[in-house]
Amino acid sequence: MITVNTIKDLRKVRQELSSPVGLVPTMGFLHEGHLSLVQKASEDCESVLVSIFVNPTQFGPNEDFNTYPRDIERDLEKLEQHGVSVVWMPEVDEMYPQGFQTWVEVKELSNYLEGKERPGHFKGVATVVTKLFTAVNPDKAYFGQKDAQQAVIIKRLVMDLNIPVDIVVCPIKREADGLAMSSRNVYLSTDQRQAATVLYRSLNEARQSFQAGVTDAEQLREILRETIESEPLAEIQYVSCANPATLEEKNGEVQLALLSLAVKFGSTRLIDNIIIG
Ligand code: PAJ
Repeated sequence: MITVNTIKDLRKVRQELSSPVGLVPTMGFLHEGHLSLVQKASEDCESVLVSIFVNPTQFGPNEDFNTYPRDIERDLEKLEQHGVSVVWMPEVDEMYPQGFQTWVEVKELSNYLEGKERPGHFKGVATVVTKLFTAVNPDKAYFGQKDAQQAVIIKRLVMDLNIPVDIVVCPIKREADGLAMSSRNVYLSTDQRQAATVLYRSLNEARQSFQAGVTDAEQLREILRETIESEPLAEIQYVSCANPATLEEKNGEVQLALLSLAVKFGSTRLIDNIIIG
């Protein structure tokens, strides 16, 4: 496994890789969720390139950029075990050279859900992912359904900018009790960790009701809300029943929907989702 930092070095090793090349963009502190993307990439591709970059521009001023968990040594060990060819760890100064002023914005899709709660977040994501794509020029790139809106936005972005990369979206990896794996789960206290199981439980409640004939969007949101509110440590930011392609909130009868939520436990903000129908 080769590790590189500069774009110049990256380009040099990229030329030597056998095709197809799969890219897995990450912010590090890797868990089984990230590694499932690496696994899928190595099944599909001859070479797997993983980027690790805690991207400052996708964090809001009051978010956790400075305290975002990092453990490069452990990450490299895991990636080596997974047969990764190249790990690229860019420097902030090179990704955002002095005077930086060129942004990629996926306008409409960024107005909903996470984008509404985290202004500027997807502008930072879309910009950095475009830069990763142009530097690496991968054949395929792997993203998790965990960040459902991010995956939709990246698919739109590569269509709009005619970037020749296949976007592969992989299922959510969960802990044994259902909690979606996330780098931010380490922030949870023991009580909060226990309480956080309410998220997947609420999604399952809504799915079961849907299967039993409750197909009204507002009723489904209400089931999510009520289940989460039964947990005193949980503070809802939003619950949503939306069109999985346009991300617009649904009203009335639902046939296919993205059920998603963002909930705070203390200062830790968690998200989760499922598709129904
Ligand atoms: P990060 O949060 O590190 O996640 C990297 C990738 O892993 C994302 O595509 C995310 O959806 C996926 N992932 C995270 N948890 C997962 C889980 N439990 N199951 C399956 N996949 C999971 O997402 C980002 O980084 C950044 O926004 C990035 C795309 C790297 C741009 O900076």
